[in-house]
Amino acid sequence: MSAEAAQEEQQRIDDPRLLEELKGIVGSMAVISDPVEMQPYLSDWRGSFSGAARCVVKPASTEETAAVVALCARHRIPMVPQGGNTGMCGGATPGKSGREIILNMSRMNKILDIDVRNNTLTVQAGCILQHIKDAADDADRLFPLALGAQGSCEIGGNLSTNAGGVNVLKYGNARSFVLGLEVVMPDGSVFDTLKGLRKDNSGYDLKHLFIGAEGTLGIITAAVLQLYPKARVSTTAWLAVDDPAAAVDVLGRLRGEIGERITCFELISRPMLELVLAHRPADRDPMKESHPWYVLKELSDTLQALDLGALLEQVLGKEIESGRVRDAVIANSLGQIETLWALRENVTEAQRAAGASVKHDISVSVSSIPDFLKQADEAVAADFPGARVIAFGHVGDGSIHYNVLQPAEGDAVEFKRRMHEVSRRIHDIAIRLGGSISAEHGLGQLKGSDVFGYKDPLQLRLMRAIKAAIDPFDLMNKGKIFPE
Ligand code: FAD
Ligand code: MLT
Ligand code: ZN
Repeated sequence: MSAEAAQEEQQRIDDPRLLEELKGIVGSMAVISDPVEMQPYLSDWRGSFSGAARCVVKPASTEETAAVVALCARHRIPMVPQGGNTGMCGGATPGKSGREIILNMSRMNKILDIDVRNNTLTVQAGCILQHIKDAADDADRLFPLALGAQGSCEIGGNLSTNAGGVNVLKYGNARSFVLGLEVVMPDGSVFDTLKGLRKDNSGYDLKHLFIGAEGTLGIITAAVLQLYPKARVSTTAWLAVDDPAAAVDVLGRLRGEIGERITCFELISRPMLELVLAHRPADRDPMKESHPWYVLKELSDTLQALDLGALLEQVLGKEIESGRVRDAVIANSLGQIETLWALRENVTEAQRAAGASVKHDISVSVSSIPDFLKQADEAVAADFPGARVIAFGHVGDGSIHYNVLQPAEGDAVEFKRRMHEVSRRIHDIAIRLGGSISAEHGLGQLKGSDVFGYKDPLQLRLMRAIKAAIDPFDLMNKGKIFPE
């Protein structure tokens, strides 16, 4: 037997032995191999992707994760990291080969430390985002990352996708909150920068490689996160505007006048509102008259004494007088705030229920948003007649979810066949305007192949070189970001 064949033989491991060894590391309850029990882990939240796996493994500590990864590395078994499985691009869904194991991180759900004087919180990667927000709140602090899936997504997934959400305008995306990171590398070694340092210029800041890497460079096991002062006053308003240009204009003026107090500024189209209202019949249109576009806006401040309501009325008064804002509803109670937010937060669910759709998650400069929307609408009307556009987004970040739904009476199969064509048209427009094909959801297996047509060749070469250096056997989340 040649040396190579002997090495290959040593690497091979049959399923029963693999399962036995995995159970030896994490305990038998934490290895799932029954095909029925594995089902929920094999497809994504939207039901757009499904795959196969040898088993699902749920480590409870960094040591267990490292031992599982080392075992897989020894036998060249590819791994798929999985958090709350709420991702939008099939990043946490295995491929079809059936050779992968899923490393589900949800048992690593401990808050390890809260250091109020350092304004930091140290957490395991499987902590649910809402639990982290609650822990920060209990310590009289704010952890600002906020998204519709916060009750089920996990911080490891948030960091791996560099998640955005509704507070990016004021606080930045997930990357902005990370001071330290612990990652199990593809060979099982542990990259440990789990420190609450705000300053460390002793060479490359390598932790940032793993943020937004979508699990292709290693498994995030823990993080030190930055905390912020809690808002003591806030006010929420639903504004009607004629078009996206008016929304961008209003945002620009408000930024000049009340800058940092704008926490959220979400653009909502009439068709999006109608979709949510149809899906949730108990909800109501906040305004008597119908308008083509809306903004859900939140202001907040840490100073209890500040009369934000008066400030809002003052700045809004000018916008209404000028005609840039056509109507405004200001929430007067917690109940009203929740009602307004429910209209925004349920769009993803409403869209899932509305049939086949192509989701886009583009970004352009804030000032290019009106142009992007105009050109995209024209392209859809010309090339995909009858398709319904559900556009909304985090306008303050230049981030638009431009979603194209199958025609109401149309054929879902035919629409799905043309999905790639639709995406190509929308992505071309974003790129022509100097934008990106992913603002916050990542590439996963949805957009990996698309990015190669758009990204600068030098950047692609560097990305491939980094992947090859860190994961030479391509064991971490195969086929994600880099299509097979
Ligand atoms: P998963 O879906 O499990 O995984 C996502 C990616 O990260 C995969 O590539 C996976 O392999 C990798 N991964 C997961 N855990 C780890 C780990 N510990 N180490 C290494 N890699 C890992 N996203 C936004 O950005 N903004 C929004 O406003 C937003 N709103 C949403 C609203 C709803 C209703 C839903 C369903 C989703 C929304 N999302 C949003 C998408 C999604 O919630 C985010 O992408 C989230 O960050 C994913 O977290 P997760 O734990 O579910 O990760
Ligand atoms: C959102 O902003 O609601 C999310 O990114 C999810 C989505 O695009 O559906
Ligand atoms: Zn979003």
